[in-house]
Amino acid sequence: MSVTALRGAAITFRDDPFQASPGDCLVHEPDALILIEDGRITAFGPYADLRESLPEGTLVTEYKDAIISAGFVDTHVHYPQLPMIGAYGEQLLEWLEKYVFPVEAKFADPEHAAQVAAVFLRELLRAGTTTAAVYCTVHPQSVEAFFTESARFDTRMVAGKVLMDRHAPEVLRDTAQQGYDESAALIARWHGRGRQHYCVTPRFAPTSTEAQLEAAGALLKTAHNLFMQTHIAENRAECAWVEALFPERSNYLDVYAHAGLIGHRSVLGHGIHLAEQDFCTCHATGAALAHCPTSNLFLGSGLFRLFDAMDPRRPVRVGLGTDVGAGTSLSQLASLNEAYKVAQLTGRRLSALQSFWLATLGGARALYLDDRIGRIAPDYEADLCVLDLKATPLMRFRMPFCESLEDQLFVLMTLGDDRVVRATYAAGHKVYDRDQGCFIYAG
Ligand code: GUN
Ligand code: ZN
Repeated sequence: MSVTALRGAAITFRDDPFQASPGDCLVHEPDALILIEDGRITAFGPYADLRESLPEGTLVTEYKDAIISAGFVDTHVHYPQLPMIGAYGEQLLEWLEKYVFPVEAKFADPEHAAQVAAVFLRELLRAGTTTAAVYCTVHPQSVEAFFTESARFDTRMVAGKVLMDRHAPEVLRDTAQQGYDESAALIARWHGRGRQHYCVTPRFAPTSTEAQLEAAGALLKTAHNLFMQTHIAENRAECAWVEALFPERSNYLDVYAHAGLIGHRSVLGHGIHLAEQDFCTCHATGAALAHCPTSNLFLGSGLFRLFDAMDPRRPVRVGLGTDVGAGTSLSQLASLNEAYKVAQLTGRRLSALQSFWLATLGGARALYLDDRIGRIAPDYEADLCVLDLKATPLMRFRMPFCESLEDQLFVLMTLGDDRVVRATYAAGHKVYDRDQGCFIYAG
C-alpha cells in the first residue's frame, strides 16, 4: 500500500470552541507530518517526531506558507442553481418564481444535469469543500448526475431529489406517491454506495402537501442513517404563508415534526425566524440548522442568531451553508467573512477558532459524520485542504503583521476565498491542485 505524506503547518479541532475553552479545542502543529494510507490518516503529529516512521523512499509533499486543514463541510447548497447565482433584485418567494424554478426545469435533460454537476463539483473542490449537503431538483436524473460525479472524485456527499407536489410550475411537480417511489429507487441505488449518502429532500413546507411530507417521513424509515433536508423560517412572508397553509400545526417546525421529519440527520436551512422553543426542540431531537450568511444577506432574509442557537445550556448542532444560488460564493471562507458580520449585527463576536470549527468539525457534527470527517486525526478520512497564506498580493502584504495563529486565520477568512486553496484532497487523493490548474479523478 503506498503512503502519502504531507508536511506543513496544520490546524484541526478536538472539541467545540462554542462550548469549551477555544485553546483546549484547537490542535495546532506548526510543522506537521500527515501520513495517509488507503484513504485514511494513519499518523498526524510534529514532523520531528514522525519522520522516523516514514517508510523508506516515501515522497513528502511540503506546503510552505500554508495551513493544512480538514476539508470544508457545506451543510446547505443547491447545485442546480449554479447557472443563476447572483440574480438581481428579489426576496425569497419572488426570487424562487422568477429565477430558481426556470433554471431547475432544465434538469429534465440528463446531459444538462451532468454538465452542471461536473462544474459544481470542481467549484466545490476549488473552494476546499470536500463534503456538502446538496439539493438536486425534482428530476431523479439530477441526482444520478450528481452522485455519479461525486463518486468519480470519491468525495463524501449527502444529496437527494427535491420533493415538490404543489405551488410550483407543473413541470417541476411530482406527487406524493411519485416522489416516494423515485426517492426509494435512488436510495436503493446510491445510499451507502462508496461515500454517497441519500437525503430525503422536501423543498419546504409551502411546496409539499401534508401527504407528501408524510411520505417523506415514511421514506426516512426505509433505510439506516438516511438524511433529511429542508428549509425553515428563512423569510417573514414564507413564515406567514406556512402559518396560513398549516393552521392546525402549532408552528413551522411542528409542520415537519408532525410528519416525522425532525431528528438525527435532519438539516434545516436558515432558521432565522425561529423561537427559543424551536431551538429547544432542535436540541432535544438532535436536528441541525444550517447557517447561510451570504444567502441571508443577499436575499435580505434576516440575521441568524448563531450564538442563541449554540447556547451551551441547550446547544443546537449548527453547520455553515453557502446556499448557492441565493448564496453568493461556494467558498466557506467567504461564508465565514459574512458570518462574522452577521454576528456583529446581532451584537456578538465570532472568533477565528469558532469560525474554522464551524466550517470543518462543526459541519461534520451537524451531519453526524464527525466520527470520520472534519478532523485531522488518525483513522479519520483524509479529506483535506491546503490554504495559502500568501494567495493574493494584499494577503502577502498583510500576513507578516499578524501576531498569532488566530490573527492569520481571521485574515484568511476576511480576505480569502477560493484563491486561497492550493490543493484539495479527498480520501487521500489529491483531487485539485491550484498551481497545476487541474482536477484529478480519484482511483
Ligand atoms: N426555500 C425554498 N427553496 C429555496 C431555495 O432554493 N433557496 C433558498 N434560499 N430558500 C428556499
Ligand atoms: Zn437553500
